[in-house]
Amino acid sequence: MGKIGWVLAWQEALYGPRGFYRGQVPARDFATATHPPLGAVLAEAIWHYADLLELSGVVDIGAGRGELIGALHAHRPDRPLLGVDVVERPADLPDGVGWLRGPGGAPLPDELSDLTDVLVVAHEWLDVVPCVIGQLDADGVVREVLVDPTSGDEDLGDPLADAELAWQQRHWPLLTEGDRVEVGLSRDLAWADLLSRVCRGAAIAIDSGHVAAARPRNGTLAAYREDSAVRPVPDGSCDLSAQVAVDSLHHDEIHTQTTAFESFGVWAPMPDPALARCDETAYRRRLLRATSAATLTDPAGHGAFRWVVVRQAGAMTKRS
Ligand SMILES: C[S@@+](CC[C@H](N)C(=O)[O-])C[C@H]1O[C@@H](n2cnc3c(N)ncnc32)[C@H](O)[C@@H]1O
Repeated sequence: MGKIGWVLAWQEALYGPRGFYRGQVPARDFATATHPPLGAVLAEAIWHYADLLELSGVVDIGAGRGELIGALHAHRPDRPLLGVDVVERPADLPDGVGWLRGPGGAPLPDELSDLTDVLVVAHEWLDVVPCVIGQLDADGVVREVLVDPTSGDEDLGDPLADAELAWQQRHWPLLTEGDRVEVGLSRDLAWADLLSRVCRGAAIAIDSGHVAAARPRNGTLAAYREDSAVRPVPDGSCDLSAQVAVDSLHHDEIHTQTTAFESFGVWAPMPDPALARCDETAYRRRLLRATSAATLTDPAGHGAFRWVVVRQAGAMTKRS
């Protein structure tokens, strides 16, 4: 097969008829912070933030197999919840939880509109929204990187199109031959589209990302299969992701997960060992909560994830 731009190959590999997210159970291939036991504490943090903004419900974009939605429901079974993913509604989702199917990648389902009184959460969605990849050639021209979908072999194609080049020049300078850019324009537009569907509410994108002061020289495209890193080949057999240029997204605030937990008031101290002697179950529960919170906020791990926050998504849409 001939080589095509990464953005097309990636879209097909994850969301095409035989795409990775259509068939696989992602939990088998990678665990995220939405999975137990961390998901319970992440859900708690999300409810803290929704409470701060006096928002009743949560919409989860890229909801996987409903892991985070399930954890959110366990904390507040009375609150409105809606999950959106490319797969059918998971059979074990609690009654009353809504579910929409989307095409995958940047496009969202048409029915997702007029969202009111909700906090919209996109946990590790934008890093699987495919983007154009460019590379600086020997003549100083930024060319699109092409890939063979069956072998993963690459070549350089045409110079970047105007819109992608403008994004690269503004957000991700390339210095020497071979430097690569993951053009965040498709993520910026997908995020803006999501925000435009909110009438009154807020939105958070939680993802691994970078900012202008520290762009990765060689890009961050990565592939995982059965919890191991593998060579990125867009053949549908592995997950493909690239970190998000978070500061190019529309935002009111950007936190690390560590600072987000602090500012949204999530507090999970280690339990007093004396509790173990009188109520071992309660002790174990608090210990699990405290260790999960410590894992989620470890600056060398999950704590480095970025929280891109738009406080008044509806108001933003009306302004722009
Ligand atoms: C990396 S997984 C993250 C799943 C879950 N949020 C988590 O953090 O464990 C990305 C998920 O986003 C979903 N996804 C990608 N594009 C989507 C879209 N446009 N609409 C709905 N779901 C989407 C994929 O199917 C996949 O389940």
